Amino acid sequence: MAVIALTAAKGSPGVTTTALAFTMTWTSPVIIAECDPAGGSVLAGFLRGQLSADRGLVPLAVAELRSERLAVDFWRHLVDFDPPGQQRLLLPGISEPAQAGSLEPIWGRLAQYFASLETRHNYDVLVDCGRLAVPHPPAPLIHAADVVVLLMRPTLPSIASTAAAIRTLRTMLTEQGAGPDSLVLGVIGKGAYSAAEISKQMQTPVVVELPEDVRTATALTQGGAVKHAWPLLRRTAQAEERLRALITRRRMPRSLADPEVMRGH
Ligand SMILES: Nc1ncnc2c1ncn2[C@@H]1O[C@H](COP(=O)(O)OP(=O)(O)OP(=O)(O)O)[C@@H](O)[C@H]1O
Ligand SMILES: [Mg+2]
Repeated sequence: MAVIALTAAKGSPGVTTTALAFTMTWTSPVIIAECDPAGGSVLAGFLRGQLSADRGLVPLAVAELRSERLAVDFWRHLVDFDPPGQQRLLLPGISEPAQAGSLEPIWGRLAQYFASLETRHNYDVLVDCGRLAVPHPPAPLIHAADVVVLLMRPTLPSIASTAAAIRTLRTMLTEQGAGPDSLVLGVIGKGAYSAAEISKQMQTPVVVELPEDVRTATALTQGGAVKHAWPLLRRTAQAEERLRALITRRRMPRSLADPEVMRGH
């Protein structure tokens, strides 16, 4: 389908957990790419440190920057969640935030490569971009994503910081990205404001609504089995349909307007 970037403003935790929950229920081959400049957490968390950290973004970046080996080396830097199926793969993130600066030249190349995976290998990519407003943000990945899901909580502090983030992201996506309507909201848990109120107030659609589900979130954060019948995973499965529908809609005018596509090329 596409490249979906997940991020959040200050005061809205849950990016990695949400990306992992989507990965577990995604209905086609998928890669979760940990591109949070503050550090990856899936190897040490959900995978409980059972794998050595010799794979992932940093060695891949070194291979690309030294000898342009991104496309060649990419697959051997992935971890298969359910081997040997290769249906759900992880690109582990950095282990030290100090490494983030060295990744800056790689974000743009990675964004292009992720976009090519859909047609070349039939993989969708869920990019954990971490929190906004950190040093060395993976901005090119946010620009190039088909959809940017800005996660938030329906609480006043989260709403305030998310509103500011929306303004920044809109400008960024208009000037350099896929357009401001690639930005949608994901609301985690219940609070004083409904999704409809938030959507209206923020003038941004709420496309993902997820429950507070401590059991599933703890397993995804610290390791352990998860079941598709548990609330969080039931909701990510439903939200996938909405994301797919949104991406199809966003692509439609472009393809209809393109005479080559109309002629079936
Ligand atoms: N839907 C949820 N229901 C209950 N708890 C959740 C949910 N999503 C996340 N959490 C909890 O919130 C905490 C932070 O989650 P997570 O690590 O996903 O946040 P993050 O935004 O990736 O943070 P970081 O900046 O550390 O990368 C964890 O303890 C996690 O279990
Ligand atoms: Mg995280």
